[in-house]
Amino acid sequence: MVNAKTRSVRVVLGTGGTIAGRAADAADNVGYVAGEVGVGDLLQAVPPLQGLSLEWEQVAQIDSKDMGLAVWKRLAERVAHHLARDEVQGVVITHGTDTLEETAWFLQTVLGPQKPVVMTCAMRPASALVPDGPQNLLDAVIVAGCPGLSGVVAVAAGSIHSAAHVSKVHSYRVEAFDSGDAGPMGSVEEGEIRWFQPLPAPIRVSAVARLKAVLTAPALPGVALVVSHADADGRVVLGLLALNGMEKEPRTRGIVVACTGNGTLHADLAGALEQAHANGVKVVRATRCARGRVVPHAGDRFADSAGLSPVKARLSLSLSLLPDWH
Ligand code: SIN
Repeated sequence: MVNAKTRSVRVVLGTGGTIAGRAADAADNVGYVAGEVGVGDLLQAVPPLQGLSLEWEQVAQIDSKDMGLAVWKRLAERVAHHLARDEVQGVVITHGTDTLEETAWFLQTVLGPQKPVVMTCAMRPASALVPDGPQNLLDAVIVAGCPGLSGVVAVAAGSIHSAAHVSKVHSYRVEAFDSGDAGPMGSVEEGEIRWFQPLPAPIRVSAVARLKAVLTAPALPGVALVVSHADADGRVVLGLLALNGMEKEPRTRGIVVACTGNGTLHADLAGALEQAHANGVKVVRATRCARGRVVPHAGDRFADSAGLSPVKARLSLSLSLLPDWH
């Protein structure tokens, strides 16, 4: 019988990204190929990890700009499998930085893990003069061993972020992630975790039903992401509606708008969205501001994203449209 004290195994799942990237020149932090180095080799390159009870599995080997349902299905299934093992304390996922926040939100929404699932990444390839991946990987394994932590978090550059709030905010620097107004949950320094906020209570979702809904879906329901901006004209939305009119199974079932400020829309785009709404397409407003959320107001024409960023709101709306989603 394995109890919480003997839950010593941490499983590291590799999906690719810059953390597994390789460049021909060690001084080149831009011209590299993501997803080249196997996760086993990444672990080997971190001496303090040797001797820990670690298992690893290569789930995918991609540049995360190409992330999609096929890899998400495999990942969700493997995460669920390992979390269900009594001896597993937590799971670490190595991932590209570009869509890390979407995968984090996907896994949190689908699985609502009751143990830690820690996503990590790097801004510099494994071949760099000073790679950031090894430290991030070590920190992530430490966080995955934290008793009392549940849910999906991201660990990078010494900070711990929640899946709900994390987003990539810099295109190049090692400190590329931020949690907006919420701030990071904590930090990892020299192997010590410091929590800035009380650990959140585990969030329970209908994980078995949600996982089944995802695994049996041939594709995720189509939800487009459009931006309201100066001189917007709504033609993208009208184009999507025209395509819907030509398809036997209309592909676009929802639209998330990255709105100006507190959820406002260019009048011409708003007109097109009214048409979409009248055609049964669900419309959700998020804000394109880097900080803050759409603060709802009585009489709002379209729902708001409940604080989710545009890309996470898009994912949530898409998942909610799956058949048998609870
Ligand atoms: C990727 O997202 O896979 C490439 C970029 C990165 O990891 O920084």
